[in-house]
Amino acid sequence: MRRLTPVLREDGVDLDLISLIRTILAACKEISFRVSQGALAGVLGSTLDENIQGETQKQLDVVSNELFKDITLESGFCRAIMSEEEEFSVPGNPEGEYLVAFDPLDGSSNIDINSLIGTIFSIMKAPVGAAPDDQDMFLQPGTQQVCAGYVLYGPSTMLCMTTGKGVRMFTLDKTHGGFLLTEDKVSIPPATKEFAINMSNQRFWETPMQRYIDDLIKGEEGKREKRFNMRWIAAMVGDVHRLLCRGGIFMYPTDTKNQKQPFKLRLLYEANPMSFLVEQAGGVSSTGYERIMSMTPNNIHQRVAVVMGSKDEVETCLDYHK
Ligand code: F6P
Repeated sequence: MRRLTPVLREDGVDLDLISLIRTILAACKEISFRVSQGALAGVLGSTLDENIQGETQKQLDVVSNELFKDITLESGFCRAIMSEEEEFSVPGNPEGEYLVAFDPLDGSSNIDINSLIGTIFSIMKAPVGAAPDDQDMFLQPGTQQVCAGYVLYGPSTMLCMTTGKGVRMFTLDKTHGGFLLTEDKVSIPPATKEFAINMSNQRFWETPMQRYIDDLIKGEEGKREKRFNMRWIAAMVGDVHRLLCRGGIFMYPTDTKNQKQPFKLRLLYEANPMSFLVEQAGGVSSTGYERIMSMTPNNIHQRVAVVMGSKDEVETCLDYHK
């Protein structure tokens, strides 16, 4: 039975929120298991369908979406949920107090090569009195998130999460099935010598980004007077995990590769939750021109440019955009 008045834990966190997070983690544990089984679970390869974004759906995208959707809706804590794989939001319990936006399987191109992938989630409060089928409930700025995180399916399965009081990392102990705290107070070093961007798009970027990256590549011989290294996992969840572990700058800027789609990453279930984590760990997250978490979304699948990571380095990049 759902409670009408929120019951708070000593530290002020709503017990329903804790239960919702546990529900999300139950879904992620199941996804982690399927991922680890790979071809044995028959989850590799593509489906014959495209998702709403026009991208070919992988079997694992579909399986993860169904698992996440069913478990979160069944919990009764969600007024509605929305997913990268669903064209519209899905109504839940009219008494549910929360909204969950998620990317069930980020980094789909890595699935079939047994490389890093993950699930990203963002939780917001449902507006008082809003109907479960009112999709506009999700159009809240990222500053309204009450919890955000991702589960990374790598050599170990890790959860990285914030409820607005810092960032913690947990490792899934597969012997008893619990996520154990392995890193308290995650903090991104302000300076870095590492950048992450898809260099094959270079000729399509705006001038400020071209100039910034040129200066990084010139290393000691350029105005930055230091050598930079580059990394690109091609799964935001993996690239942002590296930032949170050892600093760096991650960018997916505006480009003119496809005139109809100048941005790649999605605001509600990629950029916002990752920005919440990065800011909570002392980093900065921007589109190049404005703080991502301050943007009011205009549609649930809106895309944005992203520049996030180590404070000093992101601020240097933003100076090129002024
Ligand atoms: O969801 C989009 C995504 O897979 C991100 O996780 C990743 O950062 C990016 O696309 C990779 O893009 P590209 O294929 O252009 O390298």
